[in-house]
Amino acid sequence: MDGRPTILVVFGISGDLSHRYLLPALAVIKKAGQTPPDFKVLGLSRKKLTAKDVYSGSTEPLATITEFLQMDYDDDADYLKLKKRIQAVSKDEHTQVIFYFAVPPDATPAIIGHLGAARLNGPHAKLLLEKPFGNDLASARKLVRQTAKCFSEDQVYRIDHYLAKEVSQNVSTFLGSNVLFRKIWDKEFIEYIEVIVAEAIGLEGRANFYEKTGALRDMVQSHSLQLAALTLMEPCPNPFDFSDLPQRRLAALKALSLAKLPTSVLRAQHEGYRQEAGNPGSDVETFVALKLFSSSRRWRGVPVYLATGKKMDQKLTQIRVNFKKTNIAEANMLIIRIQPREGIELDLWVKKPGYEKKLEKKTLSFSFEQNFDRLPNAYEQVLVDAIRSDHSLFTSSQEVLASWRILQPVLDYWQKTKGDLEFYRPGSSITDIVGGREVWN
Ligand code: BG6
Repeated sequence: MDGRPTILVVFGISGDLSHRYLLPALAVIKKAGQTPPDFKVLGLSRKKLTAKDVYSGSTEPLATITEFLQMDYDDDADYLKLKKRIQAVSKDEHTQVIFYFAVPPDATPAIIGHLGAARLNGPHAKLLLEKPFGNDLASARKLVRQTAKCFSEDQVYRIDHYLAKEVSQNVSTFLGSNVLFRKIWDKEFIEYIEVIVAEAIGLEGRANFYEKTGALRDMVQSHSLQLAALTLMEPCPNPFDFSDLPQRRLAALKALSLAKLPTSVLRAQHEGYRQEAGNPGSDVETFVALKLFSSSRRWRGVPVYLATGKKMDQKLTQIRVNFKKTNIAEANMLIIRIQPREGIELDLWVKKPGYEKKLEKKTLSFSFEQNFDRLPNAYEQVLVDAIRSDHSLFTSSQEVLASWRILQPVLDYWQKTKGDLEFYRPGSSITDIVGGREVWN
């Protein structure tokens, strides 16, 4: 743990992101002794707030370490007020100040500019940023440039909470630590890879955000591509040395590109979406499937399929690695279950007991829940790592740009051809939608 005195400055402390993710996770790591001994929260809001407005239940103990400040995020003068307050709360000049943004994405660049103008960007300042990081390649480039004007890359922590999920962290450790997989982790033995991110939920009241976003930007640009990168990257020489993880993921992303358009993409919208979003003409996709290839020597020729959707039959995030069938042996499949029922499964072929010589597929299955006490939630890890300046589970600006570069041809294609949206029934499975289709072949 970095024991430096720390202030977490939360823009929009009463916002949805703070309420649902940040503050509950903070309460857990504080209780677990994972925050520095001198740790304070400075909660910012446009409205006047007290602890009662923000904390309840598990987060109540945070009230004793929190101060509030009402401010106008667009007013330069208020940043001087903020600066004074930070100086008053700081223990000494080495106190680190982490700025977390629970504000609408459009508001973030201006706030970063104001922080720079007020010289709140000193060497002990960090930005803890939420996605989206841009809306396409051009806007992501602009955002990276704007941020870099005020903060250096090592001061910026871009959250992709899928990277911080416990089993995602295990992908590189598991693959790197088990000689069995290390030796066969390439195109010689693997036929194809699937990354599935299905959600049972729908819009959840986020129509404004989703209408500008859609599944490709919301999920694929970040979560799905990062899970693919973890699977495809060169294994770390030491499975617990994560220090060059961002560079390894970046190399994997840079090698990835779409198979032939338009057949390598399928986009669809669930029935009822337009009513829910309050936009009868909406052509925003709530489901997308893609077929990609890597140009790396290890993976050349192995298709990588990504699919993600809302209002599916179940919540399910999995990486499925399908091994090759040979003349003499059947195909095995390794499933890394990111969530729920976190675990690892391996399909094996065995002789079915009896007098006949018959093969049967059986699954060797390992569950985290049955074997370990508790899995930390991704935001707990994000906070702990931001405090201790560990960048390995955060997305670098180069990774953000590499992901957009992969997807930009799809965005361009969709802009040209508006008419290729398909529809699916809520409760469909991924197979219901992609089964037998060219995108999944
Ligand atoms: C977010 C997306 O990044 O991830 C949401 O914006 C999505 O649309 C969420 O629902 C899924 O996260 P999790 O951890 O619940 O799988």
